[in-house]
Amino acid sequence: MSKLILGIESSCDETAASVVQDGKEILSNVISSQIDIHTLYGGVVPEIASRKHTEAISHVVNSALKEANCTLSDLSAIAVTAGPGLVGALLVGVSFAKSLAYSANLPLVPVHHIEGHIAANYLAHPDLKPPFICLVASGGHSHIVYAKDYLEFEIMGRTRDDAAGEAYDKIARILHLGYPGGPKIDKLAKEGNGNSMQFPKVHFKENLDFSFSGVKTAVMNYVHNMEQKGEKINEADVAASFQEAVVGILVENTISAAKEKNITTICMAGGVASNSRLRKKMEQETKKRGISLYYPQPILCTDNGAMIAAAGYYEFISGKVSALDLNARPTIKLGEKL
Ligand code: KG4
Ligand code: ZN
Repeated sequence: MSKLILGIESSCDETAASVVQDGKEILSNVISSQIDIHTLYGGVVPEIASRKHTEAISHVVNSALKEANCTLSDLSAIAVTAGPGLVGALLVGVSFAKSLAYSANLPLVPVHHIEGHIAANYLAHPDLKPPFICLVASGGHSHIVYAKDYLEFEIMGRTRDDAAGEAYDKIARILHLGYPGGPKIDKLAKEGNGNSMQFPKVHFKENLDFSFSGVKTAVMNYVHNMEQKGEKINEADVAASFQEAVVGILVENTISAAKEKNITTICMAGGVASNSRLRKKMEQETKKRGISLYYPQPILCTDNGAMIAAAGYYEFISGKVSALDLNARPTIKLGEKL
């Protein structure tokens, strides 16, 4: 019998809920973004995020059920992002999901946010099956994950400092482009020359970890030096060259991971996976090597409830259900028990 899962996401600045059938078919996907208010401050303000989630969550969940044309009694389980993320923001989703599960007598399924991002690929490509290598690059995370099975993951590389999206957001702020910076740099870079400046690309010998603080500092120093000398900056060239360095690091490490595990399928996930240059370069490099490449449409790359419902489906059918003492886990690592 088919299973309908309600997925709830509130780990950062999107209040989202969705109903997904059997981990693959999206029946509704409601996202209430707080971007407009955080833009005023140049980044996410945690306290404001929590308050906005509280205001939005009832309406978002109701709309998701309504759009899916179902009621609580049609659901098999409620899945919720339990971590990682901003603690106050997570608590809104977790508390709401717990109350709803209790009142409707439904199983409660905690989901790791990164596992959700990876599962967005199953929604976009219903025929996709593990194993594969997944690059998860967002505002809060940069991971290379070996997805051995639906619920079995090995982290092959992670960022040692900033996440890729965080680096995009910081450079966008220096270039006065506004928040969130990723899409703005992506657009501006199209008008620039990515080879006009060489910003450093850091690789580590011992593993596939990332570091973006070097490239970020190099761009900041360049911009400040030019400003001090009163010289005009070609912002499109800076954006394109910065992007070339970041995308280069992401692509090279992901391809190395596939080689190391002898895997011929690569997926991408997270907000940065909608970057046009990253998609193009990854397409070129995978094609050369006979590797198949998958990534979700932009609306499923950034935070959403459907990816949580999809991951929650696999957790649920494997029997992973939580008691009602579930708590938010702001720093939980992928693979740790929720
Ligand atoms: O996955 P997401 O919604 O939130 C987190 O889990 O962090 O990702 C948001 C991040 C932001 O840092 C945003 O600047 C970045 O993804 N982003 C992009 C693009 N679209 C969103 N970065 C580069 N290019 C894009 N087109
Ligand atoms: Zn995310």
